[in-house]
Amino acid sequence: MTQQVDRHLFVIFGATGDLTRRKLLPALYRVMNENGVADRTVILGVATTQQSDDEFRAVAGQALDEAGLMDTDADAWCSHRVFYEPIARDARNFDALAKRIHDIEADMDLPGHRAFYLALPPPAFPGVIENLAESGLHHSARGWTRLVIEKPFGHDLGSARELNYLVHRHFDESQVYRIDHYLGKETVQNLLTFRFANPIFETTWNRDRLEAVEITVAEDLGVGSRAGYYDSAGALRDMVQNHLTQLMTLVAMEAPSGFNADAIRNEKVQVLESIQRIDPHNIVLGQYTSGTLDGHDVPGYLDEDGVAAGSRTPTFVGAKVHIDSWRWQGVPFYLRTGKRLPMPTTQIAVTYRPAPVCLFHGTPDACPISPNVIVLTLQPDEGFEIRFELKVPGVEQVISKPMSFDYGDEFDVIPDAYQTLLYDVMTGDQTLFVRADEVEASWALWDPIIARTDLAVHPYPAATWGPAATNEMLALWTDDWTMRG
Ligand code: BG6
Repeated sequence: MTQQVDRHLFVIFGATGDLTRRKLLPALYRVMNENGVADRTVILGVATTQQSDDEFRAVAGQALDEAGLMDTDADAWCSHRVFYEPIARDARNFDALAKRIHDIEADMDLPGHRAFYLALPPPAFPGVIENLAESGLHHSARGWTRLVIEKPFGHDLGSARELNYLVHRHFDESQVYRIDHYLGKETVQNLLTFRFANPIFETTWNRDRLEAVEITVAEDLGVGSRAGYYDSAGALRDMVQNHLTQLMTLVAMEAPSGFNADAIRNEKVQVLESIQRIDPHNIVLGQYTSGTLDGHDVPGYLDEDGVAAGSRTPTFVGAKVHIDSWRWQGVPFYLRTGKRLPMPTTQIAVTYRPAPVCLFHGTPDACPISPNVIVLTLQPDEGFEIRFELKVPGVEQVISKPMSFDYGDEFDVIPDAYQTLLYDVMTGDQTLFVRADEVEASWALWDPIIARTDLAVHPYPAATWGPAATNEMLALWTDDWTMRG
């Protein structure tokens, strides 16, 4: 759907970084091509590297090439709508940048709407925010100003609060877009449609009918070249506090009063505030050791480049969470995420209570009857599946069969998460961004667990589903439930 986008300048801090090259530039180009905003946006890359517009245009061209997007239109886009401005590492203000912004706006006939995207390491956020304000760039006399902040937003509750405080000294919350790229994934957004446009599911989506909810984000990749960041973050901060918690709130929230940013975010915050303090006994941490994945030997976490000797950083988390609400009382939410698991998959499995009696008493093959399960696969192979029971013809035997829907069979293109999120920044829609109170409520939930440095970190071999302790402690899980369907 294409909405009205004001002509604007899109400023990227961290323009020479990996995120800009791999995600932002290709996504911006896609927004321009596919969302019909080709003549509405001009890009200004900002970083400490000294280089010219043309040098940055070559970088942008390479990024589009790597993303398979390079053609004559892309080439023309890079040459005419992409600019670059260097800043000093220890800059005390952005006066020179402000002048360049005004010059580009005058040359390109832009009315003064601006987005500032902080694609930077977190320690750089405060300085850039202060400098924007110091040079009067936190608002524009003639148009809107929006601030987009990459994750991680803080590394605990205290630092998230401090960052919110600083942001709010200079920006109104209505200007702020905190990124969690999971919210940009099409199938994650579809969760709300799946629930609230299908009464057949929603009327059973509660403690009366459901046994458990299981959310898995499994990756087969290891920590790769990111140990510098990851070793001080670990899976709780890197995946659980943000992505898995966001998925949980979308599965658990009440119907919003409207499909708008505040109505939806109010409901998500309510879920977070209803969660009982997480019991450390309901947490399993793990760290991968070496193993064989897809026929290749892969190193253990401790042997990865940049990981501190003897590091106890968890690369796996299993957790059992209880939401204290009328809807969810007594229904455990199991969360699981890890690196170097056997396959990459993001799934939500909702298990129903089993039938109260078995139809074929005394027939061992038929009883007990397996519960119905709805499995939503968010990536890859997006789709959903309902497991139901049926009788085998001619014998008294009940078996489980799937009914499934595969996105790929029906739709050609699923937009990239960043494309969706960047377009929303341009249209001013905050629905898929994390609000200040939401990010703090999420940290408040996980902080006490993150602080427990005494929790055991169990080794698990690469290409397995995490430590055996997960199944022992979180009894519902079995080794193969992610493979359902
Ligand atoms: C990022 C984490 O936020 O999400 C990474 O920092 C992780 O460690 C990535 O690999 C997973 O995202 P996706 O979109 O590949 O599921």
